[in-house]
Amino acid sequence: MCGIIGFTGRLDAVDVLLHGLAELEYRGYDSAGIAFFDGPAVDTIKTAGKVQILADKVERNHPKNIHCGIGHTRWATHGGVSDLNSHPHTAGQVTLIHNGIIENYMHLAAGMAAEGIYPVSQTDTEIAAMVINSFYEGDPIEAIRKAVKKLTGAYAFCIMFADRPGTIYSIRNGSPLVASHFKDGSVIASDMVALLRYSKDYFVVPENHIVVLTEEAITVEDLEGNQIRPEMLHVSWDVSAAQKGGFPHFMLKEIYDQPEALRNTIMPRITDGMPDLTQDGIPDELFTGCSRVILSACGTAMHAEMLGRNMMERLLRIPVSVEIASEFRYSNPIVDDKTLLITVSQSGETADSLAAIRLVKERGGKTLSVVNVKGSTIARESDYVLYTHAGPEIAVASTKAYSVQVAALYLIAFHWARITGKCTDDQVRALVEEFIHLPEHVSEVLSHDADIKAISQKLIDCHDLFFIGRGLDYALSCEGSLKLKEVSYIHSEAYAAGELKHGTISLISDNVPVIALATQKDVYAKMVSNIREVRSRGAMVIMLTGYDMPTEYGLCEHQIRIPKCSDIFAPILMVPILQFLAYYAAVGRGLNVDQPRNLAKSVTVE
Ligand code: AGP
Repeated sequence: MCGIIGFTGRLDAVDVLLHGLAELEYRGYDSAGIAFFDGPAVDTIKTAGKVQILADKVERNHPKNIHCGIGHTRWATHGGVSDLNSHPHTAGQVTLIHNGIIENYMHLAAGMAAEGIYPVSQTDTEIAAMVINSFYEGDPIEAIRKAVKKLTGAYAFCIMFADRPGTIYSIRNGSPLVASHFKDGSVIASDMVALLRYSKDYFVVPENHIVVLTEEAITVEDLEGNQIRPEMLHVSWDVSAAQKGGFPHFMLKEIYDQPEALRNTIMPRITDGMPDLTQDGIPDELFTGCSRVILSACGTAMHAEMLGRNMMERLLRIPVSVEIASEFRYSNPIVDDKTLLITVSQSGETADSLAAIRLVKERGGKTLSVVNVKGSTIARESDYVLYTHAGPEIAVASTKAYSVQVAALYLIAFHWARITGKCTDDQVRALVEEFIHLPEHVSEVLSHDADIKAISQKLIDCHDLFFIGRGLDYALSCEGSLKLKEVSYIHSEAYAAGELKHGTISLISDNVPVIALATQKDVYAKMVSNIREVRSRGAMVIMLTGYDMPTEYGLCEHQIRIPKCSDIFAPILMVPILQFLAYYAAVGRGLNVDQPRNLAKSVTVE
């Protein structure tokens, strides 16, 4: 997915666009570009590479007195990374930027080729510009209205028409857009972080509505021409929350944000020592009325669900399944009006997770989502939403979002167990009593940063390593492995420890690092056996274990202990250790930790 921004008003539009793109770069950074009205003409400056390369190019001939323009930072989907394929794209009178995928662009291109009209790039975006231009006879809104009827796929467009200086048009379907009119003009972008410098009040652009931005105002109308007044939202965090705050990387800052993120997510939902979801407006019937529970998400969010599932089954004693959203959406799932889908998503824009929600709703199921971004598409399309309060997560590798996602799922499980009588009030109160102190214990884990960094140096030069665990530790090892892979590019595999000897142990040889997670008392002895097995084959073992778990000489090379806690809460205390290991391995390898290659913060395309 990509980051897009548009501005028109009294400020230096080039400055607004470049600052905005820097804030949006986490969404994609293969190439970047801007287009702007410079007098009567529309000029475009674009280049492969990151936003800074664009900024340098722009500075070489910084255009003056520019007050209307659009900007784009790209995560390549159709067409390789090149200057030519960079956005913005121009076709005739139309210059636009795009976040999304036009799925029928080849068909549209063939139709225009038959008329002798050919694109110059390999992108679906240019085709979209050509389609809009083909309908343009002086009325931008009419041209957009006709063009979108031809397009299939996800899109968020910012569009300029050469003979409409000072005005930006926008429309979206499936890809995110937020907008704000403030004292110096109008601004629109993929994410609120790019608007924060100008206003904390914004609205989510309604899907399939045409937005017109001028210096004086923003208007919104549906495809039938009916003007609407979108619901205004107010963001509670400020610009500093979306900046590094003195840390070298967003990822490290966000690892350290976890105690506060947990407190902000948990404490508003605790009343008199008991879970209280009143503020979320989730009716008890949503839980008491279902007979099947499906947790569905992608990546780290799906790993959080693996822990949530364990807690739900432990307390509720009903079957709960975790489904990879990209698999679930094509699996022809068994869904009825007694099915509850719980989706987890930091961005609230992940295409596969959104598709799973739409599928379950089509088949009569109910949907609840745990989301970090207010007003996001998944939040708005779910029947009910429980917002995590982690604040903006800028690093591509998700850290604090994972912790608060687990905490939110645990809260749901506690509340659900209480209202269904599966747990007594005393049992729930005891769980909550320990739960609300987790932020303090996470802070204690964070204080071992330097020790963990020292151990991480052992990983920098390795090519393959294994994470092993059982039960909750296995679920957590999946997240530890993903973190390490996505930021350090070191290949790793998470393995159920009891499964290792059924084949994969053949890969264990001298000095192969094995990170063994062993906090679960009921399977600790088995874990020790598994650790001995890999040690006997030469593995270098880093063991993560509980405060008071017994150990033996020579069992491991390094041991990291977490503060005393119940087994069910151990993952929340352990995950910062895994995040530190991944972070310092990546830093030690000299990599761009916040923007790993090939990745994007939110995958809004499938
Ligand atoms: C997290 O480190 C990854 N970048 C990725 O797996 C992410 O968790 C996944 O794409 C889901 O994103 P979402 O939470 O915004 O839906």
